[in-house]
Amino acid sequence: MEIITTAADLRYAIARERINGKRVGLVPTMGYLHDGHAALIEASRLECDLTVVSIFVNPTQFGPTEDLSIYPRDFLRDEKLCRGAGVDVLFAPDTEEVYPAQFQTFVEPGDLASPLCGAFRPGHFRGVATVVSKLFNMVQPDVAFFGQKDFQQCAVVRRMAIDLNLPIKIVTVPTIREPDGLAMSSRNRYLSDEERRRALAISAGLFAAEAEFRSGERNVEKLVAIAKRQLETVDRLQYLELVDSDTLKSAESPLIRPAALCAAAYIGATRLIDNVTFALPTQQDKRL
Ligand code: PAF
Repeated sequence: MEIITTAADLRYAIARERINGKRVGLVPTMGYLHDGHAALIEASRLECDLTVVSIFVNPTQFGPTEDLSIYPRDFLRDEKLCRGAGVDVLFAPDTEEVYPAQFQTFVEPGDLASPLCGAFRPGHFRGVATVVSKLFNMVQPDVAFFGQKDFQQCAVVRRMAIDLNLPIKIVTVPTIREPDGLAMSSRNRYLSDEERRRALAISAGLFAAEAEFRSGERNVEKLVAIAKRQLETVDRLQYLELVDSDTLKSAESPLIRPAALCAAAYIGATRLIDNVTFALPTQQDKRL
């Protein structure tokens, strides 16, 4: 595995491989890797010949009162995980490499960035879209892999790739969970044992609604209410919304289109997000 820290070295290393016709996969991360990232790497290795993992804690996607300064970092541990997972290139630029002095050009996402996390983290998706497009330019991957836990991020990035004519396939990989259901996240390490136990209310609420959906419930209010009952034990529920999977606008009852039940909640000082998706055949599927 090659460890690269500059965009120039990265371009050279990848161009060398591309000449041999290799299909390049990118797994963008902020480090402190866990099994969720390992699943993205695995998906890339299955679909691509060369897997690049980027590790960069992106300052522009954190608000002024958010956890940028304490965001967990452990490069040696990440390096070991990447080696073990068969990563070919680990790209770990510093902040000046990604944001040169006098940096002033951003990618501004549209409506998909407004609801859910966007409503509570102003500028977050602008930061995400900007850094992801920069990573896309630096790596020039054929395919990029993102985790479904960040459902809105996946939607924003997919839209950006279409809107900016980026010749990159965006793959969403299902959320990886702890055996008890908690969605894997680098931020889980902030939780005390007691908070860790209470955090289970988030996935439990989502799963309860999912079970009702599977049993045939299609009423949006009822599905949300079922999840909300379990989520009563979180310290602060920031949002719990059932949205149309494509537009991220509030889903309409009865559900007839694919939808996602998305939640963000505080357990102590830690903000966690999670979601489950409700698959429904679209008109197009029905025609096939
Ligand atoms: O999902 C993340 O870890 C980050 O938002 C990403 C995509 C690496 C951009 O900084």
